[in-house]
Amino acid sequence: MTISILLTPDETPGPGERALLTKAGRKIALFFADGRVLAIDNNCPHAGGSLCNGHMDGTVIKCPLHGLSFDLRTGKTPGNPNSSVTSYPVRKVGDDHFLDLPDAAA
Ligand code: FES
Repeated sequence: MTISILLTPDETPGPGERALLTKAGRKIALFFADGRVLAIDNNCPHAGGSLCNGHMDGTVIKCPLHGLSFDLRTGKTPGNPNSSVTSYPVRKVGDDHFLDLPDAAA
């Protein structure tokens, strides 16, 4: 089961922007990349670095603490299938964006 959360315009990053939200008890980093809004858990699985504050190169975000990288589209570390962060679907419906979270996150 999935919970769809309507993002307000202030919560929805546009080109060159990013946002940090707390939804359903999770800190979620949103980025505008690949022509759309992409969402991942903000906390790096290595030691909790804030991925929202990382350096973004295309669709890859680099953790500001120790440099692990994650593809914003999948949450996976490029070249390392054993390293990933949770990614969440963001659906665009008209002018609205909906963040889909698993029910267990509620
Ligand atoms: S906390 Fe992110 S790489 Fe170490």
